Amino acid sequence: MKTITRRNFIKSAAISAATISWTARSWSQVAGANETIRIAVVGFKGRGGDHISGLKKIAGVRITALCDVDKEVLEAGKQKIQDVETYTDIRKMLESKNVDAVSIATPNHWHALGAIWAIQAGKDVYLEKPVSHNVWEGRKIVEAAKKYNKIVQTGTQSRSSLTGIKAAVEFVRKGNLGKILVSRGLCYKRRDSIGKVDGPQPIPSSIDYDLWCGPAQKLPLMRKRLHYDWHWVWNTGNGDLGNQGIHEMDVARWFLGVMELSPRVLSIGGRLGYIDDGETPNTLIVYHDYPEAPLIFEVRGLPEKKGSKNMDKYKGAQIGIVIDCENGYITVPSYSSAIVYDKDGKVIKEFKGAEDHYVNWIKAVRSRKVEDLNANILEGHLSSALCHTGNISYMLGKKKDPNEIREEIKSDSLLNETFGRMAEHLAKNEVDIKIDKLILGIPLKMNPKSEKFIGNNEASALLTRNYRDPFIVPEKV
Ligand SMILES: NC(=O)c1ccc[n+]([C@@H]2O[C@H](COP(=O)([O-])OP(=O)(O)OC[C@H]3O[C@@H](n4cnc5c(N)ncnc54)[C@H](O)[C@@H]3O)[C@@H](O)[C@H]2O)c1
Repeated sequence: MKTITRRNFIKSAAISAATISWTARSWSQVAGANETIRIAVVGFKGRGGDHISGLKKIAGVRITALCDVDKEVLEAGKQKIQDVETYTDIRKMLESKNVDAVSIATPNHWHALGAIWAIQAGKDVYLEKPVSHNVWEGRKIVEAAKKYNKIVQTGTQSRSSLTGIKAAVEFVRKGNLGKILVSRGLCYKRRDSIGKVDGPQPIPSSIDYDLWCGPAQKLPLMRKRLHYDWHWVWNTGNGDLGNQGIHEMDVARWFLGVMELSPRVLSIGGRLGYIDDGETPNTLIVYHDYPEAPLIFEVRGLPEKKGSKNMDKYKGAQIGIVIDCENGYITVPSYSSAIVYDKDGKVIKEFKGAEDHYVNWIKAVRSRKVEDLNANILEGHLSSALCHTGNISYMLGKKKDPNEIREEIKSDSLLNETFGRMAEHLAKNEVDIKIDKLILGIPLKMNPKSEKFIGNNEASALLTRNYRDPFIVPEKV
C-alpha cells in the first residue's frame, strides 16, 4: 500500500484534525457538488455488471475505471465503456487521479479490505453484501467510514424499498399488529451440486490467482469452477446464508429494530442430498435469541421434494421474510413489497415500491450526509455479522441423531417447530437424517457491545481470520 498517494499523504503528514476534515470533505468541496462523479467498478463478472449498467444510467456519473483480476472479464468490460482506465490490481487503481468513488462486487473475502483501502485512499464506496467475510473486519469498515467521513452504502437494495418494506417496518414498529412474536428470514433457493473433482484444477490463464485469493489462503483450486462457486467454501464464501440470505437477514433484523448482534445463537443443518466439493450447508436453521423476539433464519437449497423444480414456501414467502405478531403477520415476498395479514390470514394492507439503490448512494455522495444513505455500512455490518455468527455455531457443531437434536431443543417451541418442518422437507427429498446426520451447532453467547463471544476461544478465533500478507485488514484503520 506504500504506493497510495492519498493514504501516504494522510499518514506521513502526521495529520492534524484539519487535514483529515479537508480529506473528509473530499471532492464535493474540491470539485463542486454538481460535477461529474467518477467511479471505478471493482469485480464485474456477475453482479458488478449490474453496477456498471445501473451507475452508467445516472446523470452526472461516469465510469472512469474498471478493475478485475480476470483479464477476460476486464477486456469484455472495456468494450462496453468508452475512455475507461483498466486495472487488475485494486491498489494501482486507487492511485488513479480520475476516481472519486468505488463500487465493489468482488467475492466476499475481498470486500472489507477493498473497501477499507478505498476509504483510506479518499473514496466513497458502494459495497456488495455481505460487506465482510468475518465479524471483525466488518466492524473495521464501519470504523474507517467514520474516521475518514466517507459515504459507504451496503448493496442490500431492499433497504431502498421506501414505500414498500420500509413502510411495512414502520407499520409494525408502531405496534399496529401488536408485539412481534418471531421474525423469520427465509432463503428457499435452489442450489445444485457443484460437482466433485479428483484433485487440484488448473487456474485459467486469464486470472491473477494471487490477487484473486487476496486476504484468503492461497489454496489449490479444488472445484470445477473458480468463479461464483467460491460461495460454497469457507475460505472465500459464507454459504447461502451469507449470499442470498444476508438480504433477508437484514430485513428480518430491520423489523426487530435491533442495532446490535444477538446475545445467543444456535444453528442446525447440513450439506445434504448430494456429495460435492462444497463445504457450506445447503440446509440450515439459525436461531438468534434477541430479547425483543427471536430471529429465526432458514436456508433450503433442495426443492420441495425430490425431482421437483419447485421450492417450498412459508406463509407466501420463498426468499423473503415473515413477521409473526400478536394480531397478525407480515410477509415480505420480494425486494420491494410487503403484505399484511390479520390473524385469520386475510390481507388487510399492502406496501409496494422501491427507489434505485445506486441513485440513493450517489445522492448521499453529493450531499455528504450519511443519514441520506438507505443502507449505511453499519446496517450492512450488523446483518452480515448475524450470518457469520450463525455459520460459526454450525462450523463448530457435531453430527447428531435427530432424536438427540429434538431432545436438546425441546424447551423452545419455535425452534422445535422450525426443526420439524426442516426434517419433513428433508424427508421429501429422500434424505434420511438418521443416516445422513444433521449437525447440531454449538450454542454461543455473545457480548453485543464488544462483538466478542463469551467463554469460547475456538468460536472467538473465527470472528476474524489469519490474513495473508500483504492483504491484511489493519487493526487500526
Ligand atoms: N446485491 C445483490 O443482489 C447481489 C447479487 C449477486 C451478487 N452479489 C454479490 O456480489 C459479489 C460478487 O458476486 P458474483 O456473483 O458477481 O461473483 P463472481 O465470482 O461471478 O464475480 C466476481 C468478480 O470479481 C473479480 N475479482 C475477484 N477478486 C478481485 C479483486 N481483488 N479485484 C478485482 N476483481 C476481483 C473476479 O475476477 C470476478 O470477475 C458477491 O459478494 C455477491 O454476494 C450481490
